[in-house]
Amino acid sequence: MFTNDQILAALSKVIHPEKGKDIVTLGMVSEIESGENGISLIIVPEKSNDPFISSIKSTIVRTLKDVLGPDAVVSSIEIRPKLMAGKRQEKPDDLLPGVTNIIAVSSGKGGVGKTTVAVNLAIALARMNYNVGLLDADVFGPSVPIMFDAENYRPEVKRENNTDHIIPLKKYGVKVLSTGFFVDPADAVVWRGPMASNFLKQLLAQGDWGHLDFLLVDLPPGTSDIHLTLVQEVAVTGAIIVSTPQEVALADAIKSISMFRSDKINVPVLGLVENMSWFTPAELPQNRYYIFGKEGCRILAEKMGVPLLGQIPLVQSICESGDKGLPVAIDDSPAGMAFMTLAGEVIKKTNKRNIDLKPTEKVQLNK
Ligand SMILES: Nc1ncnc2c1ncn2[C@@H]1O[C@H](COP(=O)(O)OP(=O)(O)O)[C@@H](O)[C@H]1O
Ligand SMILES: [Mg+2]
Repeated sequence: MFTNDQILAALSKVIHPEKGKDIVTLGMVSEIESGENGISLIIVPEKSNDPFISSIKSTIVRTLKDVLGPDAVVSSIEIRPKLMAGKRQEKPDDLLPGVTNIIAVSSGKGGVGKTTVAVNLAIALARMNYNVGLLDADVFGPSVPIMFDAENYRPEVKRENNTDHIIPLKKYGVKVLSTGFFVDPADAVVWRGPMASNFLKQLLAQGDWGHLDFLLVDLPPGTSDIHLTLVQEVAVTGAIIVSTPQEVALADAIKSISMFRSDKINVPVLGLVENMSWFTPAELPQNRYYIFGKEGCRILAEKMGVPLLGQIPLVQSICESGDKGLPVAIDDSPAGMAFMTLAGEVIKKTNKRNIDLKPTEKVQLNK
């Protein structure tokens, strides 16, 4: 096995053909691991469509052998997209100036896996070394605390410059605030709309979020006052819609997409995530059973002109690990890798959105 320093020294001999500098200096080497099966690398090119990537990959394999000897076998080279700096709002009157991208995670129907996707996506992005926050805005059914095994977490509140700062839970690399940290969900169900909305405002404004590349907001299902409050309070970069491939879920997903795209709201839809795409039993990992129908979200995505960001299988480990507070994205199981792949797609689509479209405007009440 080799040390990271040995590997880095060898990689610094690999020159990017166009830029004329080595890939270490260019900051393209993100992670190095040397184990029994060989060396695995994560490379993050400056441009996601860098035409030199395949030649760089073969140069890496050759150079490691040349410098470190025949034992320097490369087991994998993963190419990951790089998040480009975005600009979220045109006017500087934003509650969250330190947050580069606010992503709303929404669904038409409840129970389709919105929270599961939001939590695992947040963890996957954090594993890619981004600063990530997760705000559980599902006031009437907050389930983020369970997935972080933090049902008894009570955030500390610090008073500074006459304002209260609510300190998020920091776990698996993600800063987390949930309405469930403050109120018993059984009490929240009797709240009226304004109370729930005020609570969301407070978590946005007073949450000690600091600098974040991504703040994911787990919204309640459907279209609610909470959705409206979010888009009125902050400029939302984009929305991700979660659905299962089942007809009834798809019909509601259409409503959800239409809401974000409506003239009044005008938040770009980054794409659709299909959850529970097929069932794969642990003992038959090659088998796929399309319990809720096949490719429903792909068909819908094409019809609505939105990207399909990923397909997540229905596997027991996703459910069990969520209940235990150990979401699958924390390690490299096949289910965990599905979320890493999804995170890569979310980065690409966020970059594209920030290049192609103007920053989102906050929704004005009197518009
Ligand atoms: N891909 C999956 N495989 C297995 N179980 C899943 C999957 N996605 C979600 N679940 C389970 O389904 C239930 C509902 O998911 P959840 O994320 O809470 O949905 P929502 O937030 O949309 O209401 C949870 O028990 C969760 O563990
Ligand atoms: Mg939920």
